[in-house]
Amino acid sequence: MIVGVLGAGSMGSGIAQVAATAGHKVVLFDANQKALEISATKLKKVMDRLVEKGKYSIEQAQTIQDKIQYGKSTQDFASCGIIIEAIIENLDIKKSVFKELESITSKDCILATNTSSLSVAAIAAACEHDERVIGIHFFNPAPLMPLVEIIPAIQTSETVKNNAKDLIDSWGKKTVLTKDTPGFIVNRVARPFYGEALRIYEEGIADFATIDWAMTEHGGFRMGPFTLMDFIGNDINYTVTETVFAAFYFDPRYKPSFTQKRHSEAGWLGRKSGRGYYNYAEGSTKPEPKKDDALGKEIVERILIMLINEAADALFLNIATREDIDLALTKGVNYPKGLLQWADEIGISNVVDYLDSMYDEYREDRYRCSPLLRRMDAKSATFY
Ligand SMILES: NC(=O)c1ccc[n+]([C@@H]2O[C@H](COP(=O)([O-])OP(=O)(O)OC[C@H]3O[C@@H](n4cnc5c(N)ncnc54)[C@H](O)[C@@H]3O)[C@@H](O)[C@H]2O)c1
Repeated sequence: MIVGVLGAGSMGSGIAQVAATAGHKVVLFDANQKALEISATKLKKVMDRLVEKGKYSIEQAQTIQDKIQYGKSTQDFASCGIIIEAIIENLDIKKSVFKELESITSKDCILATNTSSLSVAAIAAACEHDERVIGIHFFNPAPLMPLVEIIPAIQTSETVKNNAKDLIDSWGKKTVLTKDTPGFIVNRVARPFYGEALRIYEEGIADFATIDWAMTEHGGFRMGPFTLMDFIGNDINYTVTETVFAAFYFDPRYKPSFTQKRHSEAGWLGRKSGRGYYNYAEGSTKPEPKKDDALGKEIVERILIMLINEAADALFLNIATREDIDLALTKGVNYPKGLLQWADEIGISNVVDYLDSMYDEYREDRYRCSPLLRRMDAKSATFY
């Protein structure tokens, strides 16, 4: 099957590489010819490095690159079996592009979007055959991140859902099925990792370095929240938070933070701007955390329980299965353990008691316990 990829930015280029590596002939097209040239140059560099590392022979690397045809217009997508769109995150532009793609391709061609935050149903609505549209959400960088969220819209047919999932599974990715709701699984459930860490800082409980130390040392997370936000970019991470907050009709659980907003406004975006929560300028030293074990455990407990509450609520609202929720966070953002499995280990009643005491103390809806946890507690049930 020929795979079409529309948009040759960071995501589109990565997805084209994944599909070509899986053996597909790929047509990659971008409205900007320059983006295609940059994409080809970058792919060559990546492939040269993989040859140096011994992952591929020179011939294998060349074969993968030869599989990608750089399109001259969208007409080159005519014989594709699937097209994955990875253009700018703008609903009107995506809708007009989907309408155009539908007119070029056969009716069996799956039209997929890699959107992070838009409604798949809204994009699908641009097509006459809306049942062929689906969300296929890769993580950045696509060749390295194993997780892919598969998002059928309410219009998507079962056949398209199953075929899309089977195809991405055959590329060696871990797929999870999720409802077409804001943030899908990962960008919804992971919000407190950033939000609660920022809140702890704002309350003056600990500084950035101490919170990061607690989450890595005591929590077992690969990166602390502030290091990770600096890595992602405060502008990007803040925009995702604001989008999710608005999309959930301003549910206080997802309220963005002024600290992050100010960092973003100041241009303290993180690594890419040389300064974020930390200073990355040459010669600068990283601040030392306060290595107080009791404080470290307190920080981890607060952030972790907020994450568990999100995961439980996602299950309560049937966003995904318990297995897929746990898999999404371990494979999509490298959590050391699935959150629902972690909840069982901590004890559901402990989680409920903690949230209730936070709710009583703060009187903020942010700390409301998911009804699922409360019901499970009453029955002494566990997730697994
Ligand atoms: N960057 C991430 O971490 C990430 C992760 C998952 C999903 N996404 C989603 O993937 C999509 C692409 O993101 P990105 O980071 O690769 O963006 P990017 O800016 O790196 O690339 C977008 C590319 O699309 C091209 N483009 C724009 N409009 C076009 C059109 N009408 N026709 C053809 N090409 C067009 C641009 O020239 C550009 O090369 C977005 O929907 C984004 O939300 C991004």
